Amino acid sequence: MNKDVEKILVTEEELYSITKKLGEIITNDYAGKKLLVVGVLKGSIYFLTDLTRHIDLPCHIDFIQASSYGESTESSGKVEIIKDIEKDLSGFDVLLVEDILDTGRTLKHICDMLSERNPESIAVVTLLDKPSRRVADIKADYVGVDVPNEFVVGYGLDYNQYYRNLPYIGILKRQVYEKQ
Ligand code: IMP
Ligand code: MG
Repeated sequence: MNKDVEKILVTEEELYSITKKLGEIITNDYAGKKLLVVGVLKGSIYFLTDLTRHIDLPCHIDFIQASSYGESTESSGKVEIIKDIEKDLSGFDVLLVEDILDTGRTLKHICDMLSERNPESIAVVTLLDKPSRRVADIKADYVGVDVPNEFVVGYGLDYNQYYRNLPYIGILKRQVYEKQ
């Protein structure tokens, strides 16, 4: 285990079964639809690559990038789009893929923006959910697992851009970010 990790919250084996299960449910729900999977960069990269390998349907894959965090563990509340997807979404059933739903501000902003582009539907799949932290009026359609109100890293999730490549999800030791 990484020395900055307090405790492993979701193991590699659990991540495999979570993504497999979600992929199978999504395969069922989206049969016959024109699916566009949109990963929210950068945190969703590992989740998206594992999840889509369990979606047994033709689909497009694209990425959108928003920034709201900066260099702290608290969301700034201001959301900015850094990389966008195509403007016309008519005919597409859009599935947004997130690493973690925290205050919900980032995803709410992205959902509102994309719904103006005439998609057939928009849904959200998040690997992790911190429901106790929600501020924005948004709910995920598919959730991997609920997590407590702790700062977590790994499997795409970062602190100051580090720890994304840990193969599990772990709670970051408080002293790592409180000493800053
Ligand atoms: P929100 O706008 O507050 O919902 O936060 C959205 C983004 O903040 C997520 O997509 C993550 O990239 C990041 N974030 C929120 N909580 C955590 C955490 O515990 N660890 C790492 N990143 C987080
Ligand atoms: Mg993110």
